[in-house]
Amino acid sequence: MKIDILTLFPEHVNALLHESILGRACKKGILDINCVQIRDYTENRQNQVDDYPYGGGFGCVMMAQPLKACLDAAVQAAGKRRRRVIYLSPQGKPFNQETARRLQREYDHLVLVCGHYEGVDERFLEACVDEEISLGDFVLTGGELAAMAVTDAVCRLVPGVLSDPQCYIGESHWDGLLEYPQYTRPEVWEGRAVPEVLLNGDHQKVEHWRRFQQLERTRERRPDLYRAFQPKTKEDSALIMELERRSGRVRLTEPLSYRPATEADLPRILEIRETARESLARYGVDQWQGPYPAEEDFRKDLKRGESFVVLHGSETAAFFTLSTRPEPEYDAIRDGKWSDIPEACILHRAAAAREYRGSGIAGAIIRFAGQQTLLWGRRCIRADTHRKNKPTQNMLRENGFRYRGNITISSEPGHDPERLCFEKILKKPGQDTGSIPGIVPKRKEEPEKERES
Ligand SMILES: C[S@@+](CC[C@H](N)C(=O)[O-])C[C@H]1O[C@@H](n2cnc3c(N)ncnc32)[C@H](O)[C@@H]1O
Repeated sequence: MKIDILTLFPEHVNALLHESILGRACKKGILDINCVQIRDYTENRQNQVDDYPYGGGFGCVMMAQPLKACLDAAVQAAGKRRRRVIYLSPQGKPFNQETARRLQREYDHLVLVCGHYEGVDERFLEACVDEEISLGDFVLTGGELAAMAVTDAVCRLVPGVLSDPQCYIGESHWDGLLEYPQYTRPEVWEGRAVPEVLLNGDHQKVEHWRRFQQLERTRERRPDLYRAFQPKTKEDSALIMELERRSGRVRLTEPLSYRPATEADLPRILEIRETARESLARYGVDQWQGPYPAEEDFRKDLKRGESFVVLHGSETAAFFTLSTRPEPEYDAIRDGKWSDIPEACILHRAAAAREYRGSGIAGAIIRFAGQQTLLWGRRCIRADTHRKNKPTQNMLRENGFRYRGNITISSEPGHDPERLCFEKILKKPGQDTGSIPGIVPKRKEEPEKERES
């Protein structure tokens, strides 16, 4: 790998990059890092490299001519190579490990242009630069520190620079995670002991512990990276589930599956109903705060084949009812109206276990309910929710439901009977959505008098 750094301060840059690991790799001929003085390529007698900005303003701007001449000389000396000309700039794309890997993989000559003062004449950038890289969202006085960081991060990936690729494989940012904590001798330092698992010589346990630490650390310190991380192995998926379970939240690491609920599901359904009841109370919503929905309601749902459970692995994560029976209270809609689609499915009595809330499970339920509704030959889903239940209202809107109007339900005395009605029109009637075990097409059924939302 050849790197030319075009700078006004070659001595500073050279001093650092020719020390230690990179210095040794240069001596071995694996790397060729070269700093070029831009001032040597000026065409004026004062060796001036900068001038006042057109249009006025503070400071000076580096002129295009010396930069271009310096770049041409570097290119000519290097000959034909896979080359990339990079300007270090606070306006560039933020530098990261992925960029370092790409530059090492795709090029064998990097020309790093360091600006100074107020920056560089834009015409040089337009004409000569392939990409702009930033060290971060802050402003340095010159591009040298950024050029050194890029050089260091790229060069340590060049084969032969580090003693073994294992030195960088698995480090922070290698696969989107931070590294696990590291320890060295002594075993106890100032009363702090090395974790037991690292001392017992069981490599499998050490690997398991380290991976768990990587995930936990990344989750705590860099939630952005953690959210973006997609597990590629069963082991990672299991560790994420374990981590989320310990922290009281679950991340959907495997596809959800759905099936009609059975009697055996009732205890879990009632358990989830209790946690939903508690969180509604916490939001100040008096929905589900009386006996409704009672065990009897769920029992009826499941006898009609309208009650479903959502499984994550082997765990029941949520339940919901999808009904083809008309809802008489929906006929009295006010402040708006339903679409003129004659038959709809109604989604109600739905809740997810506490640890699954915010995991995207609600959207998944709605997608499934849409497929099921089409399978039952209907084209829209209707739902209603308490007027104070903002999380559910937002979730419905985010998942394609439209507000249609209000209804007043026959709720328990003292409970707010106002409900907001929502409707989602399904776009692909007749689409083959596959069959679900135990679910058969339904016929039109008569309404039944019972409910509280
Ligand atoms: C003072 S800065 C110029 C900043 C410029 N006026 C602006 O606001 O975008 C001078 C030089 O430092 C370098 N520099 C400053 N901040 C940087 C960063 N975050 N990443 C990479 N290079 C940076 C660039 O080469 C730039 O030309």
